[in-house]
Amino acid sequence: MFRRFDKKDKPAAPPAPSLVPGGDAAAQPATPLKAKTAAPEAPPLAPAPAKPKPEKKKSNGLYIDPKEEKRLARLLDIRMSLHKRLLETLNLSALDRASDEELRREVSAISREGLREMGIVLNAVDQEQVIQDLMDEVTGLGPLEPLLKDPTVNDILVNGSQQVFVERGGKLELTTVKFKDERHLLRVIDKIVSAVGRRVDESSPYVDARLADGSRFNAMVPPCAVDGSLVSIRKFTKEKLSIDQLIEFGAFNEAMATYLQAAVSTRLNIIVSGGTGSGKTTTLNALSSFIDDSERIVTIEDTAELQLQQVHVGRMESRPPNVEGKGEVSQRDLLRNALRMRPDRIIVGETRGDEVIDMLQAMNTGHDGSMTTIHANSARDAVARLENMIAMTGVELPLKASRAQIASAVNLIVQISRLQDGSRRMLSITEVTGMEGDIIQMQEIFKFQRTGIGEGGKIEGKFVPCGLRSAYTERFKQWGYDLPADIYAGGDL
Ligand SMILES: Nc1ncnc2c1ncn2[C@@H]1O[C@H](COP(=O)(O)OP(=O)(O)OP(=O)(O)O)[C@@H](O)[C@H]1O
Ligand SMILES: [Mg+2]
Repeated sequence: MFRRFDKKDKPAAPPAPSLVPGGDAAAQPATPLKAKTAAPEAPPLAPAPAKPKPEKKKSNGLYIDPKEEKRLARLLDIRMSLHKRLLETLNLSALDRASDEELRREVSAISREGLREMGIVLNAVDQEQVIQDLMDEVTGLGPLEPLLKDPTVNDILVNGSQQVFVERGGKLELTTVKFKDERHLLRVIDKIVSAVGRRVDESSPYVDARLADGSRFNAMVPPCAVDGSLVSIRKFTKEKLSIDQLIEFGAFNEAMATYLQAAVSTRLNIIVSGGTGSGKTTTLNALSSFIDDSERIVTIEDTAELQLQQVHVGRMESRPPNVEGKGEVSQRDLLRNALRMRPDRIIVGETRGDEVIDMLQAMNTGHDGSMTTIHANSARDAVARLENMIAMTGVELPLKASRAQIASAVNLIVQISRLQDGSRRMLSITEVTGMEGDIIQMQEIFKFQRTGIGEGGKIEGKFVPCGLRSAYTERFKQWGYDLPADIYAGGDL
């Protein structure tokens, strides 16, 4: 269990020192400390969640037994014929009112009759599966339903009707799930998007939506999707990973958690940077747990995923234009409006467009303690992405000026990554300390050091401090977070 740093409240806390470069950074220059030899022990690697049914597979997880494939194809055929019958016989208007139990009874009676009429004999297991599949088809999202219910699945990726991949424990694997044909897949997509009042067709071939359970959904249909519709679902997990769980999974260690607690509590502006599916949103969520309950937080997202535990949270979600191309509310619009809502902190789910200007301005003008995520592969890369985004907005700002803007707005960049073995790690925590000439100055405080590759391709390594004391040490101290110098030197807490 991660023991949170016990903040020492001072009777009269001095005013918060300035966050602009030359403030703290100058008062507290980076002091190299001699690293002790005893580095903190590498935490255990993230345990791969147990798979429900171990199937025969090649090591790449892409092998499906041809016999099993044949059986499933036959069941799919039967299911589709029965489904057609069902739609003809079932009283669809009564569907909403019927309980699951009643519906199952009805579905099972109609399918038994159908099987008899078609002259098909199924064993008990197959028959039960066909009935369950039909239930999923009628009440849920058809073939996707079992995957949505499977708690070990993080992502569902559909490449046309015949290929469905899932991500489990950080690794992609092919499943036996198939749709009958493209029409079947399109019907399921249509069911999802019409439920949220959107549509998808040739004229607007892609759509973002949120499933009833909160999962993030994106679909693209032909002709833009060349070989059949593409669907990506990021499953919603009710229980967000906590700081404790992330430490336990080996995402970072206790010293880093203590540092991050101080950084969030003392209102540093933080950017979580990482690749796709690397755990940015998860990290942002976990970091937000360090925010005090008394603060007013406003969150801005394209698809609302963040679940903050605080009492005082205003959540906003952007909106795409309607069929006539009107009514769009962008993240930038929301951000501008948020500034009039007296937020103590602003959290933007992901910065990817012209909202970057307003976000940096907000960070610079009294909404310190704001956080966001960005798609980038290193701290330097994250800064370059910010520069690019500023340039793309069309605001004519000389490079040096946009760098100065970034350097004074951003205090900390947390880099995370999904490694080859599927584990998600915090690769580095880097402070932005100011500008020197045209160059943004940064110092890495913690990093993940690889030591080798272990059994089953597991990446071995440990989290180490880089031997530099935080440039915000003085600020931490003034806010009551007098962190032991040891955490910057690899000693025990
Ligand atoms: N350290 C971790 N250990 C195990 N699983 C994790 C870890 N971090 C995140 N996950 C899981 O990985 C999945 C992806 O995480 P998340 O949504 O945070 O990624 P992301 O970087 O925000 O993705 P995107 O780029 O698509 O927005 C989630 O299902 C989450 O539960
Ligand atoms: Mg995300």
